[in-house]
Amino acid sequence: MNTTKTIRMLAVTMLAGVAVVSCGGNHNVAHEDDEPVLKEAFAGKFLIGAAVNDNQVSGKDSIAAELIRRHFNTIVAENVMKSAEINPQQGVYNWEPADRFVEFGVENGMFVVGHTLVWHSQLAPWFVYDDNGRYVSADTLRERMRTYITDVVVRYKGRVNGWDVVNEVIDDDGGYRRTPFYEILGEEYIPYAFELAHAADPDAQLYLNDYAMDNPAKRDAYVRILNDLKKRGLRVDAIGMQSHAGMDYPNIAEYEKSMEAFIGTGTKVMMTEWDMSALPSVTQSANIADTTAFRREMNPYTDGLPADVDSVWNARMATMLDIALRHSDDVLRVNAWGVSDGDSWKNDWPMKGRTDYPLLFDRHYKMKPFIRGAAKAAKN
Ligand code: G3I
Repeated sequence: MNTTKTIRMLAVTMLAGVAVVSCGGNHNVAHEDDEPVLKEAFAGKFLIGAAVNDNQVSGKDSIAAELIRRHFNTIVAENVMKSAEINPQQGVYNWEPADRFVEFGVENGMFVVGHTLVWHSQLAPWFVYDDNGRYVSADTLRERMRTYITDVVVRYKGRVNGWDVVNEVIDDDGGYRRTPFYEILGEEYIPYAFELAHAADPDAQLYLNDYAMDNPAKRDAYVRILNDLKKRGLRVDAIGMQSHAGMDYPNIAEYEKSMEAFIGTGTKVMMTEWDMSALPSVTQSANIADTTAFRREMNPYTDGLPADVDSVWNARMATMLDIALRHSDDVLRVNAWGVSDGDSWKNDWPMKGRTDYPLLFDRHYKMKPFIRGAAKAAKN
């Protein structure tokens, strides 16, 4: 761990009267003595975890690594298992970062989630374009999907417990997103991907996953897809509601209505990429392509969150978590999209260089009040 981080940690520790205890080896983790352990508090309700990065699973960020081990029983790969990372060119595989992620989960006895097999973003161009820059044929794409999904899922068979098989396949209007997969194969690419993943590892859980699931048009589209996949006899264990949120989205009532609609199809649900921006909303999308130029007024809290904003944020997060708790019979897991505020993609999206406060732990790895309160209540 670098010196600055050490000094900062120690300073915070002394100020906050926080116990810095050595949890095995030379790791120091800052946590209050009375801090509830999240995976114990929510045991029997749902798995709880986060998206993790290579710095954390490699131990470079040793405080985060220790926090993950202490609190979480499930992890998902934020980036290292995306196809452009694993298979940047035809026949070229970059396994090491994905191997480190899976190994970290396996050695810590966690439920390991692979994200994501089929996604239009972070997709290496070779996968869908020929040498002339035109789409490859349907047969070629089907063969490339078969090769890729089989190579990846077989490699981690028995160690990756669940796969985001397809990600973000429905547009805001409820139609199929016009991705290269859709343009070349039509909607059949979705059941095909599930078929391939199941053939490669019959024991792995298989999921759909998308953002803005409070959108009624998306809800209806995914209810239709879930029913169709089941009618085909395909394995679909759950649907991931990414749950990227802000101070004015999602519509909480519509969000819960979607969760209930998905459960109504006989499918389990998950909060797969949960975070909530505390900053003025620029967009309600989580479509990574929707970025915007920096504007100072959109980055108002560079020196910390004002108490009134902090309490509204905590209340909104508690409201979303309460939905999962009330439906916990059908909620498999709750994953935050990152460990502590400093890790979040939201610091640089949709606007680069902002200071956001979207996760369960702050920049000093301190647990936020809403989750501390919910964990204590769940435990009692
Ligand atoms: O690894 C390269 C590095 O070598 C290079 O130096 C650096 C600078 O260009 O880029 C690094 O790759 C970046 C990657 O994150 C790893 O940090 C990509 O540019 C960047 O686009 C990528 O952003 C990720 C984004 O998905 C796109 O894949 C975010 O971290 C990640 O949080 C975000 O997560 C997505 C989910 O997968 C799907 N749901 C929406 C969610 C938010 O967009």
